Amino acid sequence: MTPANGQSDLTQTTLQYTMLIGATGGIGQEIARQLCANNQPVILVGRNAQTLTQLVDALSKDYPDVPLVSHTCDLSAQVSQTLLVEDLSEMTQGHGNVIDTVILNAGINDFALLTDQSDDTIEQMMLVNVAYPLQLIKRLLPTLIAQHSPSQIISIGSTFGSIGYPGFSVYSASKFALRGASEALGREYADTSVTFRYFAPRATKTTMNNDAVVAMNEALKVNMDAPETVAKALIHFISTDQTQQHLGFPERFFAWLNRLFPNIVGNAIVKDLPTIKQYAKKS
Ligand SMILES: NC(=O)c1ccc[n+]([C@@H]2O[C@H](COP(=O)([O-])OP(=O)(O)OC[C@H]3O[C@@H](n4cnc5c(N)ncnc54)[C@H](OP(=O)(O)O)[C@@H]3O)[C@@H](O)[C@H]2O)c1
Repeated sequence: MTPANGQSDLTQTTLQYTMLIGATGGIGQEIARQLCANNQPVILVGRNAQTLTQLVDALSKDYPDVPLVSHTCDLSAQVSQTLLVEDLSEMTQGHGNVIDTVILNAGINDFALLTDQSDDTIEQMMLVNVAYPLQLIKRLLPTLIAQHSPSQIISIGSTFGSIGYPGFSVYSASKFALRGASEALGREYADTSVTFRYFAPRATKTTMNNDAVVAMNEALKVNMDAPETVAKALIHFISTDQTQQHLGFPERFFAWLNRLFPNIVGNAIVKDLPTIKQYAKKS
């Protein structure tokens, strides 16, 4: 765990931290910035050491008084997850800090028809978006519970975690699973100090969406949010006691409608299928 500035000397401070996994991505960087702007002590976790250092340097310069620590972690490596949790345990049990919020924001996507996707891509999407977050939660829980202080784990889902969408079948599967896991864990650990929450952005302007996705969204008049908008909504969500939030209208409405009347939503989506297929083939 690397303290990024004098305020984050873990041996001298006892603070309440928000930990952000996937801090170096498009939405992650903006969440990190807005947390710092709110004077929130943060632990930024990223896979790429160089990008993480650049982010930490920029934030330390802009927010020199905000306690900020960083940690590299590739979720695909068990040892990397274990080292992260050991450091967090030292931070909390060893030095009395509290991690009150964990944001699970890492994720990958691939816009393509299933028949055009490699087995490896299918497997990686399910691993990064579901299995690794669950493994990390499993490792983190003893540390969070041992704090004897309220804490929350927020999973970043997607509109496609409530609406199965052509060209995103594996991604939809992974985010449906993540939403289900968050709900189940909330119930499984209801007798502890840890709560589980789920936050679902709609399409957002980051490099996760390639040119084909952006062009398709333009053609279908699908709204795309700025990462700043998503981060702002998440920061507000953290301060509420809602279990789930789905961003944007009409996406929120369709997520609700799809639960009650999936055929209505399905028929509307299938009308766009030729356009979706055309762009998926270009992806
Ligand atoms: N963009 C959208 O339209 C949209 C819509 C709804 C929901 N979301 C969700 O929002 C979250 C952030 O997405 P984004 O748009 O900001 O995408 P992004 O810019 O591609 O960022 C994804 C992040 O996940 C990290 N990551 C990927 N594999 C990892 C691994 N094995 N270990 C650790 N970290 C890993 C990436 O690390 P590196 O920086 O090292 O690559 C990156 O920081 C994701 O969960 C995504 O599913 C996005």
